[in-house]
Amino acid sequence: MVRYLNHVDFNVFYLSLLLLIQSKSVTSSNDTISTGLLSSSFSSRSTVKYLPGFSGPLPFYLETGYIGVSDEDSPTNNNDGAEDIELFYYFVKSERKPEEDPLLFWFTGGPRCSSLSGLFFEIGPLNMDIDGFDGGLPKLVVNNDSWTKVANIIFPDAPVYTGFSYSKSSPNLYVGDKKSSQSIYEFIIKWLIGHPEFKSNPLYIGGDSYSGIIVPMVVQCLINDIETRKYPFLQLKGYLLGNPVTDKQLETNAKVPYAYGMGLLSYELYESMKENCKGKYLNFNLDNVNCTKDRQKFQECLENINLAHVSEEKYCGQFRPVDNRRSLSAVVGEVFTSPEPELPTPGCRSENQNLVSGYWANDDRVQEALHVKKETVKKWIRCNFTVPYKVDILSSVEYHQNINTRFGYRSLIYSGDHDFLVPHVSTEAWIRSLNISIIEDWRPWLLDDQFAGYTTTYSSGLTYATVKGAGHTAPEYRPKESYAMFERWISHAPL
Ligand SMILES: *[C@@H]1O[C@H](CO)[C@@H](O)[C@H](O)[C@H]1NC(C)=O
Ligand SMILES: *[C@@H]1O[C@H](CO)[C@@H](O)[C@H](O)[C@H]1NC(C)=O
Ligand SMILES: *[C@@H]1O[C@H](CO)[C@@H](O)[C@H](O)[C@H]1NC(C)=O
Ligand SMILES: *[C@@H]1O[C@H](CO)[C@@H](O)[C@H](O)[C@H]1NC(C)=O
Ligand SMILES: *[C@@H]1O[C@H](CO)[C@@H](O)[C@H](O)[C@H]1NC(C)=O
Repeated sequence: MVRYLNHVDFNVFYLSLLLLIQSKSVTSSNDTISTGLLSSSFSSRSTVKYLPGFSGPLPFYLETGYIGVSDEDSPTNNNDGAEDIELFYYFVKSERKPEEDPLLFWFTGGPRCSSLSGLFFEIGPLNMDIDGFDGGLPKLVVNNDSWTKVANIIFPDAPVYTGFSYSKSSPNLYVGDKKSSQSIYEFIIKWLIGHPEFKSNPLYIGGDSYSGIIVPMVVQCLINDIETRKYPFLQLKGYLLGNPVTDKQLETNAKVPYAYGMGLLSYELYESMKENCKGKYLNFNLDNVNCTKDRQKFQECLENINLAHVSEEKYCGQFRPVDNRRSLSAVVGEVFTSPEPELPTPGCRSENQNLVSGYWANDDRVQEALHVKKETVKKWIRCNFTVPYKVDILSSVEYHQNINTRFGYRSLIYSGDHDFLVPHVSTEAWIRSLNISIIEDWRPWLLDDQFAGYTTTYSSGLTYATVKGAGHTAPEYRPKESYAMFERWISHAPL
C-alpha cells in the first residue's frame, strides 16, 4: 500500500513508501528476537456475525481481538510479561476446510498501514465499494477472489499505533523495523498458543510491500525456535511476499533499467545514464555533473507517472501536481495535510480508498461491531505516517539467504510487473544473488488460456512469479490471476 507523491526523486520514491526517519545501523542475519516466557493471555476476542455496510449475516467466520505484546521501552515494562501493546487483528476462517487448510498471517506494509488494506482491497473476503460510495456508510461486497477460499488468514494491525492497535501506557513509544519484527513474532506465537485448534495447520507468513523487510526476519526467528525446540509445535511451511521492499539501494538503482524497459525513457537517455552514473543512481557523486543532468531529465520523464502502477492515471480531483522545486518536506507535508475530498474522484485510487475506509472505520457502529475498545484510538487512519518510524534494517537479503539454506521451507515471491516502487527487475536481481539453482526456468503461467505472468522455480523451494499488468499490490489490480497463483502455490501445484 502506498501514498502517491507528486514529485519524482530517488529518495522520494522511498519516502513515499516507507520512511520518515533514517537510521544508520544495519542489522545482520544473526540478529535474533529475544522474548521472555510467553504467556497465552488474550485481552479479548469476539466473533463478528454482522458488519455495518454488508447486508445480512457475514457468509464467513470473522473474529476480531487484541493480543498483548510487550515492549522493552514501555514505562510499565517490569519483566513479568507486561503487555503494554495491544495489537488488533481480524481473523477470517477458510471457507473450505478451516481445520485443515493453511493458516496465513498477512501483513500490510506501509509501514504503519492498517491491515484493513489487505482485508478490503486485496485478498480478503469483502471488498469496500469505493465507486458506489454516496456519502453514507460505505458498502461492503463479496470478493469472489478472496484467498480465504482456501486459507485461514489473520490480518494484524502492526506495529503499535497502526489501525486499531495501541499502547496502554504511552502514545509515543519508538517504533522501527526490529521492534516491529519483535512484536509481530510475539503476536504470532501468542495467537497460536491462544488458538490451539490451529496449531497443527500448515503455517505461512506473508505480506506485501514493506512487509518484505519485516517478514523474513520473523520467519528466521520462527525457524530458529523450531530448530532449538523452543516452540516445537510450530508447523511453519514457508512464506510469501509481493513486490517486497528488500534492498533499498538495489531497488533504487533498478528503477532506471525498469523505466527504460517500460518505455518511459529514450534509448539515448538510458545509455547516457549507464555511462555517466555507472549504475549507481542513488549514491552518485554530486560533483558528477553529467549524471546529475541525466537524473534531472529522468525525473522529468517520470513526473506524470503513477508509481504504484505505471500505466494507470496519476492525477485526480484536487490532488494536483505540486511544484517540483519545493522542498522534500513540503512535498511530504502536502500529502499529509491535503484536505480530503468529500466524495471519491474518478482515477484517484489510493486517495479514494483512504477516504472511504476512513468513513467506515471511524463510524461508531462499525467500531462497536468490531469490538474495538472505546477511546483507545482517537481517529482511525488507513496509514498513520505521522508516527515516527526508525528504519533499522536496510536490506533483508541476508535473511532470505539464510532461510533458503534451511531445508524444507517453501517461498513464493511475486511481483506485479507494472509497479515502479519495487520493480520486478530488482526483485529478480536479489533472487539471483542468492545463487540458488534453477529447477524450472522462466516460463509463462496461464489462467483461462491467457498468459497471466511468468515464473521460475528454484531448488531451495522458492517460486518466483510475475503477475502481468499488476501494480504494487498485485491482488488489488489482478484479483483473479493473483488468486489463481496463490491457490496453486498453497496447494503445492505448479503455477
Ligand atoms: C553470524 O554467525 C556466523 C556463525 O555463527 C559467524 O561466522 C558470522 O561471522 C556472523 N555474522 C555476523 C555478521 O555477525
Ligand atoms: C461472485 O460469485 C457469485 C456466485 O457465483 C455471483 O453471483 C456474483 O455475481 C459474483 N460477484 C462478482 C462481483 O463477480
Ligand atoms: C561529461 O560530458 C561532457 C560532454 O559530453 C564530456 O566532455 C565529459 O568528458 C563528461 N564528463 C565525465 C566526467 O564523464
Ligand atoms: C497518528 O499517530 C500520531 C502519533 O502517534 C497520533 O498523534 C495521531 O492521533 C494518530 N492518528 C492520526 C489520525 O493522525
Ligand atoms: C554468488 O556467486 C557469486 C559468483 O559466483 C559470488 O561472487 C557471490 O559471493 C555469491 N553470493 C553468495 C551470497 O553466495
